[in-house]
Amino acid sequence: MKKIEIINNESTKSEIVIDYDLTKNIYDYLDENKKYFLITNTTLAKLYPDIISKFEKEKVIVIKDGEKYKNFETYNFIMNELLKNKIERKDAVIALGGGVVGDLAGFCASSILRGVELIQIPTTLLAMCDSSIGGKTGYNTKYGKNLIGSFYKAKKVLIDLKFLNTLNDYELKCGMGEVLKYAFIENSCKSEEKYDLMEFLSENSSSSIKEKMNYIVSACASLKVNVVKLDEKESGLRKVLNFGHTFAHPIESLTGYNLISHGQAVAYGIKMASKLACANNLIDNGYYERINLLIDKFHLADEKLEFNKNQLNDFISLMTQDKKVQDGKINLLLPVGYAQVGLFDSIDLPSIEALLP
Ligand code: NAD
Ligand code: GLY
Repeated sequence: MKKIEIINNESTKSEIVIDYDLTKNIYDYLDENKKYFLITNTTLAKLYPDIISKFEKEKVIVIKDGEKYKNFETYNFIMNELLKNKIERKDAVIALGGGVVGDLAGFCASSILRGVELIQIPTTLLAMCDSSIGGKTGYNTKYGKNLIGSFYKAKKVLIDLKFLNTLNDYELKCGMGEVLKYAFIENSCKSEEKYDLMEFLSENSSSSIKEKMNYIVSACASLKVNVVKLDEKESGLRKVLNFGHTFAHPIESLTGYNLISHGQAVAYGIKMASKLACANNLIDNGYYERINLLIDKFHLADEKLEFNKNQLNDFISLMTQDKKVQDGKINLLLPVGYAQVGLFDSIDLPSIEALLP
């Protein structure tokens, strides 16, 4: 078991617990005297009835599964269910699911009765390593993703590695894209604890997948905790968590959002950012090859992406529409050294166009 204690300020403490099968005795981590409202989705409700049944039936709220349901209607549905079942300020909301359930339930917890306690139980690799930590909550609108939301940290993040057993290959790859991102930014996260995720992921060790996942999730979670501790509202350091994402968003949009997962798009984005960095002598050929080899080892960017001329124009305009663009300049994170990235705003558009497939 790994525990990461987070001291947000003098009065609020929170913790992340990582273990295999910790939800078997979930009440070891909860307060018997508190009322808990569990929010999950139809897929998890079917897969994990043993966990759901530990909560009072009328306090279990099941939403439809899918990113397209991360919207105002689902938010409104959850809020009404919470109110109908008489949630009080001293009660708590538990999010059992991937990033969609976590972001939505998190926003409900932050806004119901002006805020009740939130507990995240992430069930995807992406949610364990990234979305359940750091307090970003919200839902999508027709104007873009995650445009309505809040920063609201969970009191506890309970990571049960057992959930990874039922994840399909597509979702595992989605999580692995974010894991590799942490490997390539580790030295920019200013963490005192060193994991050398790049080396760990490159090794062909004989340890079991459970042990490997324990190490990987612990490393990513504590790197993220460290970044968020230093820059909660993304005014500086937290931007490193977007490595690969400025390229990933147009890739996802131009491939129709379902051909390749978000994590794979991040991996393609990291490859593009690295190519640009190498062409601008920010990294040498050897390191560029190393990044590519690691992404290829996990088969995250095996297909050759091909875009026609119109799509290439769209690619650039989608990159410039990204909400991380400031003053009309593309802010790009590029690798600058071993597991290190830097933020650049002076990269000219023709050099970006030249590297697009
Ligand atoms: P998701 O929540 O849609 O889950 C992916 C699929 O896996 C769903 O069909 C889900 O039902 C299923 N699933 C979940 N756990 C499972 C399990 N243990 N076994 C089998 N199936 C399971 O997707 P995601 O990748 O977890 O999260 C993506 C969302 O996270 C996006 O909406 C994104 O905006 C958000 N996100 C938020 C942050 C943040 O900091 N808040 C960071 C990154 C991403
Ligand atoms: N996933 C990016 C962030 O939490 O800031």
